[in-house]
Amino acid sequence: MKTVRTVADLRAALQPPRRAGRTIGLVPTMGALHDGHLELIRRARAGCDEVVVSLFVNPAQFNDPGDLDAYPRDERRDADLAAQAGADLLFAPPVGEVYPPGFATKVVVSGPLTETLEGAHRGPEHFHGVTTVVTKLLCMCLPDVAFFGQKDAQQALVVRRLVRDLDLPVHIETVPTVREDDGLARSSRNVHLQGADRDRAVALSRALRAAEGAVAAGERDAAAVRERALAAMTHFDVEPEYLALVDPETLEPVAEVDGEPVLVAVAAHVGSTRLIDNTLLTPSPGAPR
Ligand code: PAF
Repeated sequence: MKTVRTVADLRAALQPPRRAGRTIGLVPTMGALHDGHLELIRRARAGCDEVVVSLFVNPAQFNDPGDLDAYPRDERRDADLAAQAGADLLFAPPVGEVYPPGFATKVVVSGPLTETLEGAHRGPEHFHGVTTVVTKLLCMCLPDVAFFGQKDAQQALVVRRLVRDLDLPVHIETVPTVREDDGLARSSRNVHLQGADRDRAVALSRALRAAEGAVAAGERDAAAVRERALAAMTHFDVEPEYLALVDPETLEPVAEVDGEPVLVAVAAHVGSTRLIDNTLLTPSPGAPR
């Protein structure tokens, strides 16, 4: 696997495969690769001829400078893991290559998609940082397919809207969340979970399983489903920042789980680590009421 650091080198490296008609897959990451990322890379490997992994800790999407400083960075390790998972090219630009002096453009998806849930708690600027850098990465690499994790369901939705609204010629593939054996969603932030906090972190996935269980048992009232999920979190002494049942396309709150898919999204601090998770409820028409 080759590593390139400039847009010019990235384009030069991709010119021969593009001319040969080979499909290009991009897996955008901020490094600190874990099994969730490796699954994205494996999917890209399975579906595309040429696999590019980008590694860029994007300052524009961090609202807390402390969080940006604390973000785990180990390029050597990430490069080894990306290569093992099947990447052909690592694009690891310095900040000045992505945001050169005088950089003045922002790409903004406005409205509820970026203002609710993560947008309400981290501020919509977080998503403006994501959409700006993702637009840039897509323009730099011009992939046929770009891969995003379902764990960041809102981010994947925002990126789909961006691509649709700007007619960007790329297919967005969303890949299911990879979990630890006890259900904790894989995240680069999990390395910060120590001791009892690691045990308590299971509260988020338990809440989602409780919501699924309630619906499987026939509960249709969204508030009642939420109560069951909340109780599962309280059991671990974890309080959600938000725990919401929403329409998976608009992120509008829903009152009922009535046959249409419903996204349950949760965020919580466990100790000083902020975690998010989600699941899609899809009650089948024959399920008990
Ligand atoms: O999900 C992430 O790691 C980041 O938000 C992304 C998509 C790489 C943009 O910086």
